[in-house]
Amino acid sequence: MNHPENTPGGRKCHSLSELVGNTPVLRVTAPLPEPHPGFWAKLEGMSPGGMKSRAALSMVVGARRRGELRAGGTIVESTSGTLGIGLAYVGIALGHPVVLVTDHEIDNLTLALLRAYGARVEIVREPAPRGGWQRARRDRVAELLAEHEEAFWPDQYNNPDNAAGYEPLGRELLAQFDRVDTVVCSVGTGGHSAGVASVLRAHLPNVRIVGVDSPGSALFGQRPDKRLMRGLGSSIHPDNVAYHQFDEVHWIGPSEAARACRDLARGNFVTGGWSTGAVALASAWCAAETGSDEVVGIFPDGPHRYWETIYDDEFGERNGLHGTRCARHPAERGTERSGAARWSRSREITDPCPGRTTGTGCSLCDREEGALP
Ligand SMILES: Cc1ncc(COP(=O)(O)O)c(C=O)c1O
Repeated sequence: MNHPENTPGGRKCHSLSELVGNTPVLRVTAPLPEPHPGFWAKLEGMSPGGMKSRAALSMVVGARRRGELRAGGTIVESTSGTLGIGLAYVGIALGHPVVLVTDHEIDNLTLALLRAYGARVEIVREPAPRGGWQRARRDRVAELLAEHEEAFWPDQYNNPDNAAGYEPLGRELLAQFDRVDTVVCSVGTGGHSAGVASVLRAHLPNVRIVGVDSPGSALFGQRPDKRLMRGLGSSIHPDNVAYHQFDEVHWIGPSEAARACRDLARGNFVTGGWSTGAVALASAWCAAETGSDEVVGIFPDGPHRYWETIYDDEFGERNGLHGTRCARHPAERGTERSGAARWSRSREITDPCPGRTTGTGCSLCDREEGALP
């Protein structure tokens, strides 16, 4: 890949793919709503398509290098969000048709943009009898892959190139700071936390890595349940989550995350979606708790996709976001599997997937008995 020229006026890019990354950091001191000492926000929303363009580019370039995707070959993926935008971007940058399978949860702005960027978007209409919408989308991807023999499926949950795509983000942080004490990452596929942690730990062994998850997410051993928030959290156990890297995990609910987004918008201008609000809250709390002025939170995207949810008063009313009193501090938790509806945290982190750890199979991940990876 080419490198952009750094001129005093800004980067001079010869191709679209050179636009990815090199995002700024911003000191955030706006109250959330409590005053806090301040933290640094890594503004991934300033990269085209947001943070997931890094993962999309890395997975597509990796597949091309290994010969799994030939020039002009089709990319097929199941996504309802940011990865779709990232793949649409890479499709244009590197010349690949993109087919995305999604469901009714996709927001209107993302759907319109994906189509404008030339992606073919397929919306599955019925959940699968077992495995719900996620399974229905995966089944449709399997059909499409069978139809397009040459097609490439990035499989963002389990593809190590997803995490590797964020190693440059870790190196950017090392260049932007002399010292980093704590990094706060939202966790969905586990990609960016794994990539950033692997680079930072190699240089700063004592750095504290804090994961942020959603209530109702299975990622850190909670019982999966309906989730309002998108982006962070998962109903399966992705291979990309680097459990050994996390020092603690916070579960932050939709009321707290939405409130933080609105506080950021009012006091800080720069804001984002569910994961940004949750990361901001956890980062401010970590800065206050540790007294460190070198806490960095990764803000994955900007606010625009959330105009019909977080920033819509009626949505807030309908979903009880405004009436609920927001927690000010996390409750301490052990490894109990339910009840993370309000902001809580735990420092006991283990891989919850029996399919991976004991080989007894996992109904959430469709891993069969004896199928250790
Ligand atoms: C907006 C947003 N925030 C956070 C995440 C979680 O990041 P990761 O998948 O790298 O764990 C995602 C993943 O899709 C996302 O789209």
